[in-house]
Amino acid sequence: MVNTTIKTTKSQEIFAAAQNLMPGGVSSPVRAFKSVGGQPIVFDRVKDSYIWDVDGNQYIDYVGTWGPAICGHAHPEVIAALHEALEKGTSFGAPSVLENLLAEMVIDAVPSMEMVRFVNSGTEACMAVLRLMRAFTNREKIIKFEGCYHGHADMFLVKAGSGVATLGLPDSPGVPKAATSSTLTAPYNDLEAVKALFAENRDEIAGVILEPVVGNAGFITPDAGFLEGLREITHEHGALLVFDEVMTGFRIAYGGAQERFGVTPDLTTLGKVIGGGLPVGAYGGGRDIMSMIAPAGPVYQAGTLSGNPLAMTAGIKTLELLQRPGTYEYLDQITQKLADGLLQIAKETGHEACGGHISAMFGLFFTSGPVHNYEDAKKSDMAKFARFHRGMLERGVYLAPSQFEAGFTSLAHTEADIHQTLVAAREVLCNL
Ligand SMILES: Cc1ncc(COP(=O)(O)O)c(C=O)c1O
Repeated sequence: MVNTTIKTTKSQEIFAAAQNLMPGGVSSPVRAFKSVGGQPIVFDRVKDSYIWDVDGNQYIDYVGTWGPAICGHAHPEVIAALHEALEKGTSFGAPSVLENLLAEMVIDAVPSMEMVRFVNSGTEACMAVLRLMRAFTNREKIIKFEGCYHGHADMFLVKAGSGVATLGLPDSPGVPKAATSSTLTAPYNDLEAVKALFAENRDEIAGVILEPVVGNAGFITPDAGFLEGLREITHEHGALLVFDEVMTGFRIAYGGAQERFGVTPDLTTLGKVIGGGLPVGAYGGGRDIMSMIAPAGPVYQAGTLSGNPLAMTAGIKTLELLQRPGTYEYLDQITQKLADGLLQIAKETGHEACGGHISAMFGLFFTSGPVHNYEDAKKSDMAKFARFHRGMLERGVYLAPSQFEAGFTSLAHTEADIHQTLVAAREVLCNL
């Protein structure tokens, strides 16, 4: 299937060439539109809440480069700060004051963090945090939740969300059994399953890692008491609690889901927003745990480009913008308008649907719900989502090309953008 009502000739040409050059024509799988059909749109530029493709079509963007663009694309103050930083060079491979500045901002904001280590991606942050969990507890097993995604490291490719779920891959070939033999899984929002795993693996579980609000199996919120329950169970068993806030950090609230829900984990991973659109990840926690990281301690983890001055600069400016008064109120207000509107229109046009939002993160499933976990999310009508996605694209609205991804808004999204999106949604849903 190719796009029907919008002209995408150049996109198609470029993507055809890309397929000969890169596996699937992309640098990351979910971009490939596999689960919604059609060809991906090839972008030319982004600004505010908009993207333009190489054929000149304009779209309202709810992907936001998969999360980082919370201030809107190419924010003038971020760009200006980057210009200034660029003049001083692109990489030092040595300490810079910029690392101190971003570290202070992150530590001040995120309740669980007393120290932080910067890396280059969310995947790297999660890999490193796992090593640290194991080293600190001297235990090997971990618990993750079905449908949660913690990057593509071997140990996490068990019932993973995001692209793994989108493409229907059970587990990836090339992952040795030994790498995942210590990864235990439980359904999200199921405290009894977690208790049972702790009972069956007494004194063997290093910790529990989760997305405190799930974005990689579609948008799923924690049930009341779930995060608190995990905090209690992990304490009781001498295990660590890790919030993977790569997606939720500085998005669900300035201090992430841990601030929003008032549950403080032992360790936290970050990425996306804190790099302001440049490649960044980070992990951190209490001073006692973080002091185990090399060179302060024996747990090895390193990176040529870690703490890169451009990435630090974009992150600092992005967090500065987010600190301004009214930011999160605005994000919540426009996202609520969007999420409520979509749900209302879906119901009025006769579709079974459920969904919601927290702050600048939202989701819509084509099932009556409620969706508490990945199994529930899979009940969504995927064929309908694919048609919805296509219809919205043709009307100038760019949604993530998978039912198993959350949507993102930004400070640049206007009331007019939301209105236009809802008008498009009504047209599409009326004819679905
Ligand atoms: C919760 C979560 N953890 C980890 C990652 C991996 O981050 P990256 O793609 O930067 O490697 C992602 C990416 O979407 C994510 O959403």
